[in-house]
Amino acid sequence: MTIFTTGGAGFIGSNFVLDWMAESDETVVNVDKLTYAGNLENLASIDGDARHVFVQGDIGDAKLMATLLSEYKPRAIVNFAAESHVDRSIHGPADFIQTNVVGTFNLLESVRTYWATLSDTEKLSFRFLHVSTDEVYGSLGKNDPAFVETNRYEPNSPYSASKASSDHLVRAYHHTYGLPVLTTNCSNNYGPFHFPEKLIPLCILNALSGKPLPIYGDGQQIRDWLYVTDHCSAIRLVLESGRLGETYNVGGWNEMSNLDVVNTLCLILDELKPRIDGKPYATQITFVKDRPGHDRRYAIDATKLEKELGWKPAETFETGIRKTVLWYLEHQNWVENVTTGAYKHWVGKQYGN
Ligand code: NAD
Ligand code: DAU
Repeated sequence: MTIFTTGGAGFIGSNFVLDWMAESDETVVNVDKLTYAGNLENLASIDGDARHVFVQGDIGDAKLMATLLSEYKPRAIVNFAAESHVDRSIHGPADFIQTNVVGTFNLLESVRTYWATLSDTEKLSFRFLHVSTDEVYGSLGKNDPAFVETNRYEPNSPYSASKASSDHLVRAYHHTYGLPVLTTNCSNNYGPFHFPEKLIPLCILNALSGKPLPIYGDGQQIRDWLYVTDHCSAIRLVLESGRLGETYNVGGWNEMSNLDVVNTLCLILDELKPRIDGKPYATQITFVKDRPGHDRRYAIDATKLEKELGWKPAETFETGIRKTVLWYLEHQNWVENVTTGAYKHWVGKQYGN
């Protein structure tokens, strides 16, 4: 048996592939374009393992996908591939439309053509799982209930609009063509291999190199944080037991303001790697210009996933953030290799000097 992953050299995809290989004998064919966010070093620990077949390619490349699908005949596809950073979508939305909308559409077409060639039994058991985000639901007020699967889609950034669009296409391919799809909408992930353009890894690395920890606006925006391997366990469960055509929210019931998140990781760093001058890392916190259209609050109600499939996160924020800080402290080579010229260019563009 074989499954396909797309975007499996990125942050969540690589964690998923590593967990999958540790828990299953099934082959994984991993198609990733290797944009700035894709990194084969994330998969170094499975180098040489014949159960992992890496293919550098674009989900929108119909010819490549047709060849791979007919060659490997997967029983399922988990689609992680996307442009994923909100700030980049503000500077340049075109790549987001190209991969998240047009790419997903092309991938769905390739999969629909392949699915049509399967026997009736294979058709029934096939799955296309689309990995999406809580950002499609828009922004919550302070006292609003957390997002449930039936919330209206109200995306506010080019990134979330492109993900919302891909979710709608996935839904339509189920209703129109009967393609056996599942969609997961997850909250903010953190953990190993997180690219340091995102808040948590950026602040860990900036803290260690004595740079400012940039907090947008007043730092009171709220996100609902989930350790990445808990997201992976939810995806595995939905893939095996989710009801066809359904969407499942995934989240850790862990709402925190950005300022609290950064203060927490500063305290862990104070303990694990104190500054030479003995001052707390929190003194590096710097308030900077807010993100345009910045969503104020996200919160996920994961009751459906818990009640239907019995999923629960294994990590709390306290255990997960400590593991994460330790991981970055212990993986200086990985850090050095991702913080290249292209990364420095992005940081200059986003934060100035
Ligand atoms: P990431 O940016 O770290 O990785 C994305 C991967 O997709 C990279 O390896 C990149 O090379 C690959 N890719 C990009 N365009 C491609 C294309 N056209 N064809 C093939 N591969 C391509 O992203 P991530 O944080 O790992 O997110 C993975 C998925 O999970 C995304 O769909 C994202 O929307 C969703 N998601 C992310 C979070 C989060 O907190 N990071 C939360 C919920 C949902
Ligand atoms: O909610 C799920 C989403 O979480 C995913 O769909 C996205 O792919 C993922 O990137 C993430 O989006 P966010 O915009 O929430 O993540 P980011 O790490 O960029 O920002 C987290 C919060 O921290 C957000 O409120 C913006 C703020 N922030 C971010 C950066 C990079 C800062 O205050 N300063 C920063 O320098």
